[in-house]
Amino acid sequence: MAFPTSLPVPRTPDSMEAPALRWGILGPGWIAEQFVESLQAHTRQQVVAVGSRSADRAQDFADRYGIETAVGGYDQLVGLDDVDIIYVATPHKNHLEHAVMSMDAGKHVLIEKPIALNAAQAREIAAKAEETGVFCAEALWTLFQPKWDVLRQVLADGGLGTVKSVYADYGEYFADDHRILDPGLAGGPLLDLGTYPIAYVTSLLGPANQVAAVGQPDPRGVNGQLAATMTHAEGAMSVIATTVYGWTRNEIKIVGTEGVLTVEALHNSPGPISVTSADRGTTLTHDEPFGDQVAGLHYQATEAARRIAAGETQTPIRTLVSSIVSMEAMDAIRREIGITFEAAGLVE
Ligand SMILES: NC(=O)c1ccc[n+]([C@@H]2O[C@H](COP(=O)([O-])OP(=O)(O)OC[C@H]3O[C@@H](n4cnc5c(N)ncnc54)[C@H](OP(=O)(O)O)[C@@H]3O)[C@@H](O)[C@H]2O)c1
Repeated sequence: MAFPTSLPVPRTPDSMEAPALRWGILGPGWIAEQFVESLQAHTRQQVVAVGSRSADRAQDFADRYGIETAVGGYDQLVGLDDVDIIYVATPHKNHLEHAVMSMDAGKHVLIEKPIALNAAQAREIAAKAEETGVFCAEALWTLFQPKWDVLRQVLADGGLGTVKSVYADYGEYFADDHRILDPGLAGGPLLDLGTYPIAYVTSLLGPANQVAAVGQPDPRGVNGQLAATMTHAEGAMSVIATTVYGWTRNEIKIVGTEGVLTVEALHNSPGPISVTSADRGTTLTHDEPFGDQVAGLHYQATEAARRIAAGETQTPIRTLVSSIVSMEAMDAIRREIGITFEAAGLVE
């Protein structure tokens, strides 16, 4: 184990080279727009159909993005013969139903984050994927970007020594009418924003053992902000925080015995990472240009396309077990604070 002399280059393949899948978009909302723009700008993937609860909204989306087929009804979308994979982009509380509906129709699925509302639902999705034999993954897009491949290589090479702790936060400001403030849609920052820090700490350190968490309710009926400290195997610890009240640092720090790796803000978007030696004498930087969703969402789609072409049903970048482990940590945080999603119909 030694601090590196240079950083590895990302091994992420060119998205233009991935075999083309025929995509169906389920839920034509905000993230679906970014996703389709990203596919159309950076890949050869074909977006061939879109399904909405409203035929007019489906047609409007199809017209804007030059999509051949628009249907009013998600069941019609998943039943289309010329669709290979469904991108589930509805609110979190609908992910289980829409993922299962798609897989039952024999379609591969890429499910927006969080994969579901809790670990029990995530396990149901994994069981359906196993039963139907289709490809299934959570669209935790950060993990698919080139900088994250650099990070994985630094860790695998022992460049940070033994990883002792991970610090990650995610805060954003939201206007009153945003769905994150709607208790009926399982609002609050944890599932929407906190998903990222939780995915980072659990994929870097493994499942949470002890969990200590505090939070503050918001008068609009959701949790407004929370923080959690967790312990993990082999003496590691993590600290996460998330809020709907404003933009926080939105960085990740991975602290090892030989050095500290920083994923600069916004940690979930394309952007640089740096690695500083424990004595702070040397800093190495991976200069990925800053970018937005359109610049970064395509990597998860082309990873799915390559895995499917190879006959695989999951991606090692975000296995279903890793999604379940994330949901287990979020369940534990919610239990500590007393956050429920009863208003969204979740019975636990
Ligand atoms: N990866 C990322 O960076 C990122 C960013 C934002 C959001 N997301 C995730 O993507 C999902 C959707 O978020 P979004 O911001 O795109 O939401 P959004 O703009 O509200 O879009 C959600 C879409 O789902 C459909 N829908 C179905 N049932 C619904 C219901 N009960 N209430 C509202 N809409 C319903 C609606 O389409 P129709 O009614 O027309 O069918 C709507 O357009 C969430 O799980 C979120 O966590 C990911």
